[in-house]
Amino acid sequence: MSKKDKILVLTGAGISADSGLATFRDSGGLWENHAIEDVATPEAFAKDPVLVWTFYKQRYQQALSSEPNQAHIALAKFEEHAGNRFHVITQNVDGLHKKAGNHCLYEMHGSLFRSYCTGCGTKYPMSELEFADHLPHCPKCDMLIRPDIVWFGEIPYFLYEIENLLKKCDVFIIVGTSGSVYPAAGFAMTAKYFGAKTIAVNLDPPDNRTFLDEFYQGKASEILPSLLDSLV
Ligand code: OAD
Repeated sequence: MSKKDKILVLTGAGISADSGLATFRDSGGLWENHAIEDVATPEAFAKDPVLVWTFYKQRYQQALSSEPNQAHIALAKFEEHAGNRFHVITQNVDGLHKKAGNHCLYEMHGSLFRSYCTGCGTKYPMSELEFADHLPHCPKCDMLIRPDIVWFGEIPYFLYEIENLLKKCDVFIIVGTSGSVYPAAGFAMTAKYFGAKTIAVNLDPPDNRTFLDEFYQGKASEILPSLLDSLV
């Protein structure tokens, strides 16, 4: 690899595991105690907004009190060195890449720190919402406010920008993701098709490993800092 390579990183829940946040599909993960169709679809929100808000408020509180680990910090430091030849795409909604200091960042599944009105689309920071007596409603149009999370059946953010980055990158690194949720799971295939070297850092072999040139098995907080050092 050359030190001028364009590096693109895709992260998933595993990168935040060492910050104390649960992943989705590991043993004890979020989808073990909550069915996706109960808390992570637009239909679930229409049916039981109290349950859905309870789930995301709890995750927001956890994210608020968690700190970036060595893997997030290594990505933020790498951005300082590499500038605009480096971008991070994350499926995570926990805000830890921002907290670590990454700016060239695409939060493709939204953010626990934001919400928006289901009527007029106005965005509100979570910190401004009132939950005291009832669910939050929009001060402008009085419709229900929802978490700014991309649920199953909805279209992720930044797909146009991400496709361009996938076509242009020289090295594509996936970190802490099971490679099982599309479209993100297909990014390694696209990057490889357009000529990038594809690498994974993960505790378990990801489902999309057919499209990987290299796989480093273990904790992101232990492996990623030295992998990125070799690319500075
Ligand atoms: P998953 O829970 O599917 O996968 C997490 C991966 O991280 C697993 O493959 C673990 O082996 C790995 N892992 C766990 N601890 C790790 C560590 N310390 N270091 C490195 N790897 C570790 O989470 P995601 O792939 O992020 O979407 O899930 C993708 C999407 O599915 C999420 O964004 C979410 C979920 O449903 C929505 O909610 C729309």
